[in-house]
Amino acid sequence: MKGIRRMVGIDRLNYYTPRSYLDMHTLAEARGVDPMKYIKGIGQEKMSVIGPHEDIITMAAEAAAPICDDKAAIDLIIFATESGVDYSKAAAIYLQHLLEIPNPVRVIELKQACYALTSGLHLARDFVLSHPGKKALVVSSDVAWYGFETAGEVTQGAGAIAMIVSENPRLAVVNSGTPYTSDVPDFYRPNTHDVPIVDGKFSIECYNTALKQTFTPGGYTYIGFHMPFAKMADKANRILQDDAISDDALLHVKSFSKEIGNIYNGSLYLALLGILTGVGDLTGETIGMFSYGSGSIGEFFTLDIQPNYQDVIEKDAWTTHLSSRQALDMLGYEMAMEHFIKREKETDYHFSLTAPDDATFALKAIDNGHRVYTRL
Ligand code: CAA
Repeated sequence: MKGIRRMVGIDRLNYYTPRSYLDMHTLAEARGVDPMKYIKGIGQEKMSVIGPHEDIITMAAEAAAPICDDKAAIDLIIFATESGVDYSKAAAIYLQHLLEIPNPVRVIELKQACYALTSGLHLARDFVLSHPGKKALVVSSDVAWYGFETAGEVTQGAGAIAMIVSENPRLAVVNSGTPYTSDVPDFYRPNTHDVPIVDGKFSIECYNTALKQTFTPGGYTYIGFHMPFAKMADKANRILQDDAISDDALLHVKSFSKEIGNIYNGSLYLALLGILTGVGDLTGETIGMFSYGSGSIGEFFTLDIQPNYQDVIEKDAWTTHLSSRQALDMLGYEMAMEHFIKREKETDYHFSLTAPDDATFALKAIDNGHRVYTRL
C-alpha cells in the first residue's frame, strides 16, 4: 500500500436550528440599545431560541437523522457539547438510542468549549484512517445562554451540526491542522454556574492570539471562522492582512451565523454551510477553517472540496429550514428560555405541550434524572 494516500473526511453534513427566533430589533428595543449596535456592531440579525420539546439531544437527532442512511456502518459516535445534560452519561448514548443505531458502536461525549467538535472531527478522521472501512457520526449540539440583560445576551443561539466521517468522502477531505493551547480565563463555566463567566473583550484577544499562532497561509478564497457572533469573522479576517478573504466571501461565511447566533461548537461549521450554500462551484477548492474554544485552544486546518460534492449537500433544504422559522416577541423569548433553564434542573418532568408539526423528535420526560425521548 506504500505511496497510496488514503482520503478521509466529511462524507455528509447537516444542521438543525430550532423553529423560533428572536429578531435583534426586538431585543434591542427591549434592552434600550440602538439596534445598529447589535446588527452592525455585533453582526447579528436574529438568534434561534430553543423550543419547549427540545434539548441538545433532540437537536442533534434532528441534524443527524437525515444523513444516517447506513446506520449499521457507523462504528463511532462522537457528541461534542458544552451544554451537557449529565456529568456521567454521554449524550451520544441517548442519540444512539433515538436514532436506532445498532448497539455494536463506540460512543463518547467530548468537551473543550467551542472547539470539541473540531477535535471530534479530527479524532474521527484518525479513527477511520486506522480502521479502514469504518464510519463515524460526529455531532455537536449546544444552547448558548448568557442570561437576560447581560452583555452576552445578543450572542446567544441554539443548534446542532452532524457529519458522517468516512473514507473517500464525497464532500471534503479533512487535512490535519495546527493547534495552539493556552490556559486563559476568558470564558468558562464551573460546575457551580448556570451561565458562563465571561471576560468578553479578553476572550476576543485570546481568539485573535490563537488565530495568529495557528494560521497557515494558503491563498484561500474562503476561510471559515468560528463565530461566537457574526462580526467576529470580520475582526478575525482583518488580522490576516494580505491573506484576508474578500468582503464578498465574508458575506457567505456569515450568512447562517447572523441568522442563528452562537451555537458554540457548531458555529465554525455554520460558516462552512454558508460557503457551500452561497458559492456556485467549489470543486477542487481548499477551504481554511479556524476553530476556537475558550479556555483555550485554537486550531487552523483545511478542507479539500471533492468533485460532485453538490450531490450530497442540501442547499435548498438548508435555506428553507432557516427561512421557515417563526418570530417570537420578547415575552415568547423570555418564556422559552425560562422554561428551558427550569426544566434542565428538573429530576422529574413530563412534557405536556404540543411539539411543532415539523419536529421529528421530542424530550418526553425526565424520570429520576433519566431522559426519555420519542420519535413523533
Ligand atoms: N452602531 C454601530 N456599532 C455600534 C453601535 C452602534 N450604535 N454601538 C456599539 N457599536 C459597536 C462597537 O463600536 C463595537 O465594535 P468593535 O467591536 O468593532 O469595536 C461593537 O459594536 C460591540 O460593542 P461593545 O464592544 O460596546 O460591546 P459589548 O461591551 O456589549 O460586548 C461582546 C460585546 C464582548 C461580544 C459581548 O457580547 C460578549 O461578551 N459576548 C460573549 C463572549 C464572546 O462572544 N466572546 C468572543 C470570543 S470567545 C469565543 O469565541 C468562544 C465562544 O463561542 C463564546
